[in-house]
Amino acid sequence: MAGFGASVSLDDLERDPDPILAAMRREEPVCWVPELEMWFVTRWDDVADIESRPEVFTAATEPSFLARALGPNMLTSDPPEHTRVQQKFSPTFQPGGTSGDFVATRLVALADGLLEPLRDRFDVMSAYAQPLSAAALAEVLGLGDHGAAAVWRWCEGLCTDIANFTNDPEMTKLGEVAKVELGTAIRATMSNAGAVAGGIANFVAAGASEDEIINNVRLMISGGINEPRDGIGLVTWVLLARDDLRSAVAEDPRLMRRLVEEVFRVYTPVGTVTRQATVDVELAGSPIRAGDLVSGILRSVNLDEAHWDAPYEIRLDRREGSHAAFALGAHRCLGEWLGRQEVRVGVDRLFAAFPDLRLDATRPVDLHGFEFRGPRSLWVST
Ligand code: HEM
Repeated sequence: MAGFGASVSLDDLERDPDPILAAMRREEPVCWVPELEMWFVTRWDDVADIESRPEVFTAATEPSFLARALGPNMLTSDPPEHTRVQQKFSPTFQPGGTSGDFVATRLVALADGLLEPLRDRFDVMSAYAQPLSAAALAEVLGLGDHGAAAVWRWCEGLCTDIANFTNDPEMTKLGEVAKVELGTAIRATMSNAGAVAGGIANFVAAGASEDEIINNVRLMISGGINEPRDGIGLVTWVLLARDDLRSAVAEDPRLMRRLVEEVFRVYTPVGTVTRQATVDVELAGSPIRAGDLVSGILRSVNLDEAHWDAPYEIRLDRREGSHAAFALGAHRCLGEWLGRQEVRVGVDRLFAAFPDLRLDATRPVDLHGFEFRGPRSLWVST
């Protein structure tokens, strides 16, 4: 199985994945990567194919770091079980549900409140994008009383445990502390469900069991804060780096929606979806064996030359249809609508508060990561 993938390292992917993924699309679109012990699937059509066949490419992988750290949840199951569980959680995140009410009534005030004390120079990621994303999800879930700092701590603890590939006991302990604290907060909100409006009360009313609620809220907190944060950082950075796009959006603010979609496509903050073959199967000529892990590379399909015209260009008038940054199949992002609003409104309020915002030239932006990619920091001056 030694081919192109033998030369690929995780360090290189985390630094700059795009040239490596472009070469794979060209030379070996379904490629075994020994360092990661999984197949990389890099073309749009092949990833759409694996996402449409959960009976062949299951999300219930064995072993699963996600299930070990969070407990079985919607992202570690396949239809029809997945559909049964997902339906109890989905309405909260639709525009007609709690998320819609939150965006209409609270999001702008939350953003403005975080911006109010900021002056002169600051890091957009830690001072604004991260607390905004944490506070927004906390409020939607009905955990707002615990504050953004606590929700962020739980997120960090859970993510540390998910990434604990070597079973380091210190990392497991951080995850356990987060799980105990979050579990106590969720149970208190559940027992008070009539009094505390929000997602958790909705999940109880929809008939979700205590375990389903706890495990899936852990999933939401581990996955629903970093991504809007990175989205806010990426869109802000693109606007600050590209005067042409900044002027276009200033002239016609309706273009902000298109810009957000193009930034999600070109930078794809969640890089991959991981599945496991249930049977021996051939994909684009490569022999995948039952039990092999298969990574659908969303970042690569969003830049696939066979699917997109001039894929690396941000074009506000694209016509090729929607991208894959929120995935393509049954596990398409539950918080997609809410996440988009957080990014759009978050960036909008930032530029409304600081119309002369500029990149801090003394601290260059460092985009990093493969599985999760975004600016590590984004220093600006007002
Ligand atoms: C705005 C940026 C976001 C991006 C780019 C993003 C991306 C994704 C992607 C690619 C998946 C598929 C993962 C897979 O199949 O392995 C996913 C699933 C998921 N996302 Fe998001 N996400 C975002 C925001 C959010 C938010 C705000 C929430 C809050 C609840 C959330 C909750 C979830 C959940 C629960 C799933 C699992 C869905 C399922 O298994 O059916 N995400 N997301």
